[in-house]
Amino acid sequence: MAGNPIIIPVASGKGGVGKTFVSVNLSYALASLAHKTILIDMDFGGANVHTVMGYDHAPDGIGNFINRPKANLADYALSTNNPYLSFIPGDAEMVGMSNLTAAQKRKMINAIRGLEAEYIVLDLGAGSAYNTIDFYMLSSIGVIVATPELTSILNAYAMLKNSIFRLLFTEMKKYPQTKQFMTSIMKQGGESAWKVSDILNGLFRIDPDIEADAAAMLSSFNPKLIINMAYKPKDLTSGEKLRKITKNYLNIEMEYLGFLYRDQAVENSIAQRHPLAVLDPNNATYQTVIRMAYKIASARKLPYFVLDIDNYEDSYEAIMDEATDDLSARQEGYSELANEELLSVNELLSSIKNLEYENIELRKKIAELEKKVIMKR
Ligand SMILES: Nc1ncnc2c1ncn2[C@@H]1O[C@H](COP(=O)(O)OP(=O)(O)O)[C@@H](O)[C@H]1O
Ligand SMILES: [Mg+2]
Repeated sequence: MAGNPIIIPVASGKGGVGKTFVSVNLSYALASLAHKTILIDMDFGGANVHTVMGYDHAPDGIGNFINRPKANLADYALSTNNPYLSFIPGDAEMVGMSNLTAAQKRKMINAIRGLEAEYIVLDLGAGSAYNTIDFYMLSSIGVIVATPELTSILNAYAMLKNSIFRLLFTEMKKYPQTKQFMTSIMKQGGESAWKVSDILNGLFRIDPDIEADAAAMLSSFNPKLIINMAYKPKDLTSGEKLRKITKNYLNIEMEYLGFLYRDQAVENSIAQRHPLAVLDPNNATYQTVIRMAYKIASARKLPYFVLDIDNYEDSYEAIMDEATDDLSARQEGYSELANEELLSVNELLSSIKNLEYENIELRKKIAELEKKVIMKR
């Protein structure tokens, strides 16, 4: 077993949806099926896996690793009470590292791929930051966690849409003849709601083989959806809505990995700072997570997909664009749901209020980022 583990990134459109809960317990579940698993805390904005694992302070972890030229990632792995599971914490040095350089990203990725384990679970930061997307693209079977609320579904949609567009743009760099077309799409990206099928049609007109390549890449990208903190069985339809618009507008098939109810036992486990998997392995919610792990482990199709490592770029200035990209991707999500008649009048009204609020917040964020960029120069 010399490296090349199966990487399972866990992402979400926004924080607070249970990404860390899922990452930790899914890791325990894989380990309980006797698969050697390493969980890595890659949430640069809010690393807290160590807290869930019962540590008061973060031991040396990812930040320390990134800052030490000769460090070996495996040396940071801490053992747990399950012999098949270890974890690498995020640490204090990691705070503020949300803009990794391309070299740092490549170092991380090579180190992750060299780890000796069957599965590597990555607890990623929330949202569509390039860092998050780049690490999400380490696998074709990344998990996305959302709650049943419409805003959470749309945040997840925005994250997936930004990922798919990033994937397409970087892959198409191989073909210089697509440059003009792809640039024109990128320029209009903010205003017009591009369907991925429109892009494929455009590529087909340039060269059918290029279109075939892009289509094959999209079909091998199969993110897995988890709806968490559901109140009632009908909340399942939220996930179906997301699956439907990602299929119709982004041309990707997303498997429903599972559906978890809001469960007091989860909150208790967080308060007691022990994973639910350890406190109560028979708990029904954890048992559902074990079924998810089983689905992952028994999947026969393992189209292990990695965005070409040469495509990892420096992205400091780019984060300014992405704040607006995120908003427009979400706005498009609303219109796409409405087109499919998947929105009620009430949902539409409350979504407009939400967008107005987020618009103001994003303007503030962009202003702050502009200041930072100016100060850096
Ligand atoms: N299924 C669930 N039932 C009840 N509470 C949950 C559930 N999943 C997560 N939570 C709670 O939601 C909060 C956020 O979870 P967390 O995993 O930290 O989210 P994230 O990593 O996405 O920010 C935690 O306090 C956790 O206890
Ligand atoms: Mg978290």
